[in-house]
Amino acid sequence: MFILRVLRRFCTRSMASAKFTTQVLKCDPSSIDFSSDEPVISCHDTADALKTAARHLVAQRQPVVFPTETVYGLGALALESDAAAEIFSTKGRPADNPLIVHVSSMKMLQSLLPPGYTIPDTYQALIKTFWPGPLTLLFPRNPSVIPSIITAGQPTVAIRMPAHPVARALIAIADAPLAAPSANTSGKPSPTRAAHVAADLDGKVPLILDGGACGFGLESTVVDGLAEDGHLRVLRPGGVTVEDLECVLRDNIPVDVGAQPWRVLVHKRDYADAQQEQAPTTPGMKYRHYSPSVPVVLLSTLANDSRNSVPISDYLETLTTSLLSSSSSSSSSTSALSSISIGVLAPTDSLLWSRLPSTSSNSRIRWQRHPLGPLADPGVIAHNLFDGLLSLEKAGVRVMLIEEVSEKREGLAIMNRVRKAASETVAVSLS
Ligand code: TXA
Ligand code: MG
Repeated sequence: MFILRVLRRFCTRSMASAKFTTQVLKCDPSSIDFSSDEPVISCHDTADALKTAARHLVAQRQPVVFPTETVYGLGALALESDAAAEIFSTKGRPADNPLIVHVSSMKMLQSLLPPGYTIPDTYQALIKTFWPGPLTLLFPRNPSVIPSIITAGQPTVAIRMPAHPVARALIAIADAPLAAPSANTSGKPSPTRAAHVAADLDGKVPLILDGGACGFGLESTVVDGLAEDGHLRVLRPGGVTVEDLECVLRDNIPVDVGAQPWRVLVHKRDYADAQQEQAPTTPGMKYRHYSPSVPVVLLSTLANDSRNSVPISDYLETLTTSLLSSSSSSSSSTSALSSISIGVLAPTDSLLWSRLPSTSSNSRIRWQRHPLGPLADPGVIAHNLFDGLLSLEKAGVRVMLIEEVSEKREGLAIMNRVRKAASETVAVSLS
């Protein structure tokens, strides 16, 4: 009877907080052909799912979740303030954090820009190479088209054309630009699979389009190329690497004799901007980001000066001793006896794996290993990072350890996310 009462109370409470019965519809990206600006869809179920999603967006002004090549997005009509407002309430997103507007064609981009605005040569070159794809560009806002809720009052608007066929087809079928942040409760890691979204936003959205795992796995690169000095500023590293941006500019934008050469400047690495950091225009600066519900420790292994680092075996000994002693002093007898899981995320070929103590049958410590991919291939590590954080959280680990990677190519975006997810950094030596 008691159990029934508790269950009934639990069900009533969860039903009361659910706004929708969330529907998950499969979409097959390979059935969508985008050789022209209009999608041609060969699979009936995919076409129906996209039409249903467009109906929710346009007729009912409701947000829907869709896959992109970076992470899953929570989309709503970008040009309708009431529809866009649903994004903020669904995510619990602070109103001063602006949204990216997603377009499906150059014609749609043009319709958002101020009358008479000419797209600069640098942007033309970047768009030609990286669109559709994981690159977001800041443009001047046309206040008569872009509602202020989208830009949080900023004079610029962030725009990208996603490469994922489902995302692009949805925008084309809705025939309207979509504002879409990552489809997670604010502050959590971004979802890269429909199941991640369902675990987080079930009952809060009417529909999730399931297009499989996202290809890149981290968000788009956000670039501001509007400054007078001609430099490109990377506000958030992401799917398009700094090395790739430099390469395209080098090949396409000549530097006039005697002029100062352009540079690609990465926020926090190459420049700081106190005023910008006060406003939340620098993605992820003002608010906590990418944090699972358990502590994340960054294992720093690449410092030039190893004098301050501790041997990994000493660190693991201290960590496990403190976890065991805090659980044995717990008032609950079950938690004093149950095993304690520690999640570990590291490159597949890292030395760290051989340094983990083997799990013996009489130990209460369990190591949950999540290899991320080869050290030599940061693209694979990027693809697996958020999935790793979310899977280990779901597996109930008490703490997660993540090994540092080099900040080259996709490594820059990986470490940007890892530093924000981590509540603590410990310098360790693996040798
Ligand atoms: O890959 C992505 O970009 C994904 C997918 C769904 O497209 N979207 C995404 O959105 O990551 P969101 O909202 O999670 O992150 C967008 C970031 C925010 O941190 C925001 O501060 C920044 O872009 N942003 C948006 N508009 C901006 C603006 N006008 N100036 C500077 N930063 C801006
Ligand atoms: Mg986000």
